[in-house]
Amino acid sequence: PETGCLSIIVLGASGDLAKKKTFPALFNLYRQRFIQSCEFHIFGYARTEMSDDDLRSRIRSYLEKGSVKAEDVSEFLQLMKYTSGSYDTEEGFRLLDKQISEHEDAKSSANGSCRRLFYLALPPSVYPVVCKMIKLCCMNKSDLGGWTRIVVEKPFGKDLESAEKLSSQIGELFGEHQIYRIDHYLGKEMVQNLLVLRFANRLFVPLWNRDNIDNVQIVFREDFGIEGRGGYFDEYGIIRDIIQNHLLQVLCLVAMEKPVSLDSEHIRDEKVKVLQSVEPIKDEEVVLGQYHGYRDDSKVPDHSNTPTFASIILRIHNERWEGVPFILKAGKALSSKKADIRVQFKDVPGDIFNCEKQGRNEFVMRLQPSEAMYMKVAVKQPGLEMSTVQSELDLSYKQRYHGVTIPDAYERLLLDTIHGDQQHFVRRDELKAAWDIFTPLLHRIDNGELKPISYQQGSRGPAEADELLLRAGYIRTHGYRWIPPAL
Ligand code: BG6
Repeated sequence: PETGCLSIIVLGASGDLAKKKTFPALFNLYRQRFIQSCEFHIFGYARTEMSDDDLRSRIRSYLEKGSVKAEDVSEFLQLMKYTSGSYDTEEGFRLLDKQISEHEDAKSSANGSCRRLFYLALPPSVYPVVCKMIKLCCMNKSDLGGWTRIVVEKPFGKDLESAEKLSSQIGELFGEHQIYRIDHYLGKEMVQNLLVLRFANRLFVPLWNRDNIDNVQIVFREDFGIEGRGGYFDEYGIIRDIIQNHLLQVLCLVAMEKPVSLDSEHIRDEKVKVLQSVEPIKDEEVVLGQYHGYRDDSKVPDHSNTPTFASIILRIHNERWEGVPFILKAGKALSSKKADIRVQFKDVPGDIFNCEKQGRNEFVMRLQPSEAMYMKVAVKQPGLEMSTVQSELDLSYKQRYHGVTIPDAYERLLLDTIHGDQQHFVRRDELKAAWDIFTPLLHRIDNGELKPISYQQGSRGPAEADELLLRAGYIRTHGYRWIPPAL
């Protein structure tokens, strides 16, 4: 790994994302010695005027969790400085640059290369101007190497046009190799596992196609509503918030062809190909929902048409997947909180056991909570009789990997940005292809041509979504429920 002075600059340091995700992830990396104090410093930047200590005390409670030692937190907080300034004038950024340079001068004796990582925990509306200021005032100047990188978070635009505009504005200032677009689902353990599972197991290789797979579901559920995020959410809705990015990224990894190698460009090339093979979405393959009570939020307009639930069938027009529906479903205020991938296989031809009555083989990856993967299989009912029953081959992580902590997605992704690994970040053409798929549908919803169906909070969402699933060919298993093994 590279060495030299590392400056992590968190822009929007007093905001929610920084407090809840960015700083805790950096702290955990530091605590586990993935980043060393001898070379590393954090610079917070935001408009609010405050001292270094003010920022430290704002963040402290987000770091002191579980068995964390207070002295570790203090040690980490000492590595943090704060600068206030506006996002659209040079003054603040010149000051920031001066602070970073001072730190670099003090630390660079060992190895002159300087690394500057700018994390934009900011609304995308200011990305272009902030990038301009960084380019103008804060680039790495060391003659001895190093780099300047930019990390950005969704929403990257609201539709194809706005996303492309944003990409061009940033693209004029930074090369693609310097831009890290985070989709935090790509940092999740089970999502990262997809590549290994599919391409390192002979077992799956011959089965993973239209000859054997009947349908695929990628499902995200939350058991709470928008909780004070009404302003943001109403403008974006569940498709832009979850489906166009998180679930679509998962779809890419489920459906893509084997990459030439694990090189990030090779992987992303394959993802783009899948996205480009997705057919236009049909109205009759979409169910939208809005939970009852959503419009009571003070920031949500009384007649909001924004979906808080959507179930959408995507069809991939290629040799592997022609005819296999991929059902992407996401909803807020539902009966449970979980995310999984469910691959349902076709019936056994010439069945002699009457297995269809019970259900089909399914391969399920539980992304969260309690990471697991299990395969639903028919086995002989234990006992004297010759009858079949649905059971499972089960790999539950907590049981199999005792005491292993699964890192938070942000920790992993931040470490990748430091190491310069773009594999788990969204490339510009990938983003464009993703918007290509959803933009026509989103425009029709925005215009009010398609309306969400009301559903009760704490339910499964609109009944129409279950009907859509059955129409897509999904066969529900009767009399079987997977029970996570007790520890
Ligand atoms: C975010 C969405 O990207 O992902 C939120 O904006 C959502 O609405 C969150 O709650 C879910 O992330 P996770 O990691 O809890 O599944």
